[in-house]
Amino acid sequence: PRVLVLHGPNLNLLGQREPGIYGAQTLAQLDASLHTLAAELGAELTCRQSNHEGVLLDWIHAAHGTADGIIINPGAYTHTSVAIQDALRAVPVPAIEVHLSNLYRRESLRQVSLSGVACVGVIMGLGTASYHLALRYLVAEHTVRPS
Ligand code: DQA
Repeated sequence: PRVLVLHGPNLNLLGQREPGIYGAQTLAQLDASLHTLAAELGAELTCRQSNHEGVLLDWIHAAHGTADGIIINPGAYTHTSVAIQDALRAVPVPAIEVHLSNLYRRESLRQVSLSGVACVGVIMGLGTASYHLALRYLVAEHTVRPS
């Protein structure tokens, strides 16, 4: 299966950004580990990061017909973006929302996910393993239900 990984705002700063919350790995290291896992699982992976909501929308739209699954960490747009929710609903590609941190252990403003409502599931709080588990799920699910 073809899997699109979308990293939202500020995730380009992984490794230097609040490492106590988000860990020491850089985005390049996370993407490299995802590519390694994808190769093991036989998945075709594309990873992208943007700080711009509209760019993320364009990539979600472009997933229609080009990806079999989306893994998205919308960053702070998780809590604000009706547009990302609408885009995920508009495109018939299953999406998993992931977060490095456990939003339930954080400020109350982070406990609402507007985008998660439009996803098959949400995996959070497991650091970079949140992404790895999402990739394993999408590959397994695609194997069970070929389309
Ligand atoms: C995050 C959680 C968000 O609340 C925050 O704005 C982020 C990262 C996470 O992966 O834990 O940028 O999505």
